[in-house]
Amino acid sequence: MPKKIRLGILGGGGDSLIGVLHRVASFINDNYEIVGAVFNPDYDQSVEFAKEIDIPTNRIYKDFDTLVEEELKLPEDERIQVCSVQTPNFLHFPMAKKLLDNGFHVICEKPMTMDYAEAKILEEAHQKSGKIFALTHTYTGYPMVRQMKEMIKTGELGKIHKVDAQYYQGWINSIIHDKEKRSTVWRLDPTKAGISSCMGDIGVHAFNMVEFTTGLQIKSVLCDFNYLYEDNKMDVDGTVLVRMDDHVKGVIRSSQVATGEENGLTIAIYGEKGALKWEQERPNFLYKMSDTEPLQVYKPGHAYNSEFSLNASKLPPGHPEGIFDSMANIYLGAARAIRGEAYKEGEFPTMKDGVRGMNFIESTVASHKGGNVWVALD
Ligand SMILES: NC(=O)c1ccc[n+]([C@@H]2O[C@H](COP(=O)([O-])OP(=O)(O)OC[C@H]3O[C@@H](n4cnc5c(N)ncnc54)[C@H](O)[C@@H]3O)[C@@H](O)[C@H]2O)c1
Repeated sequence: MPKKIRLGILGGGGDSLIGVLHRVASFINDNYEIVGAVFNPDYDQSVEFAKEIDIPTNRIYKDFDTLVEEELKLPEDERIQVCSVQTPNFLHFPMAKKLLDNGFHVICEKPMTMDYAEAKILEEAHQKSGKIFALTHTYTGYPMVRQMKEMIKTGELGKIHKVDAQYYQGWINSIIHDKEKRSTVWRLDPTKAGISSCMGDIGVHAFNMVEFTTGLQIKSVLCDFNYLYEDNKMDVDGTVLVRMDDHVKGVIRSSQVATGEENGLTIAIYGEKGALKWEQERPNFLYKMSDTEPLQVYKPGHAYNSEFSLNASKLPPGHPEGIFDSMANIYLGAARAIRGEAYKEGEFPTMKDGVRGMNFIESTVASHKGGNVWVALD
């Protein structure tokens, strides 16, 4: 067994939503060891949290700049190798850029940056660095999503003609309808979240799933946002018509005010020979539909799945694996890349996905603001 990769964590403290997912995912395949962190902007809280989860406190730093400065003083075989950026959006770009510029690998949360211009700068910094950059579009790690990609690639659906991705949540209802509350949440603050709330937070996952599963690119978008209140600067709902290659069209629907919805990400791809549909809340079922055959249901871990899908399951069929395992698969792919081992395209989302995602988000904003017009992606 190779030595564990030395992992640093930025954000993801005890007060965060996503920190636990990253920590557990990094441990699942025994590849990483957390050796340093800034879990929280408040140093005492960071140290308290490190004690709580039993991580040595000697490399818990007062802030990000100190982490970089102090880690660079350590011998290379002790230094953090990869940092996982799990902070609110506005810190992704400055943190990821400084990490790459200083020779660290990066695992970064989405949306990758605040806008497309930052994404292009980060792309350049990444190219210069020669380091690994993994973006945590979590859902691409599910075995049945990987199976979907492989089935489309091998032509099981024939020519694709329609894509439909929906990401519906309802959590912002409890905040958006209260004037005071809606001014306190970072996801509704453009200086912290970036140019979009709903499309930047969840629509971008749906976008990534469409491009990941089909292997096709979205060429242009027409978007209609809803902000619900005059004083709310950020979209909380958005519907996007998309045009892809060669007469492939579809829709990406995302909402944070879809009352009663939890984490309702669904992706459906329709082709001339059949269709595939997958739902995040029932991740172990992949539905194959046809006009002539009965509905087929694919499940993880069975030999009829592709190697790419089978490699994403750890247990025999019937032992449900979920979002922790899906994120763990992304950490596993990144670990292979960091160690210089062979890995398959798609094992972890890359800088390219991050740049595409920011191009998409910015194009939806431009489309809405321009009066719901078609906007071409690069
Ligand atoms: N991949 C996914 O499916 C997924 C799901 C949820 C969130 N996210 C992304 O993860 C990121 C964090 O989201 P969240 O919901 O966990 O946010 P959160 O507000 O719940 O947590 C943010 C954490 O960052 C810490 N933090 C803030 N400023 C910091 C600083 N200067 N230095 C160090 N730590 C700092 C906070 O103390 C907190 O622990 C966002 O970019 C979000 O888009 C991704």
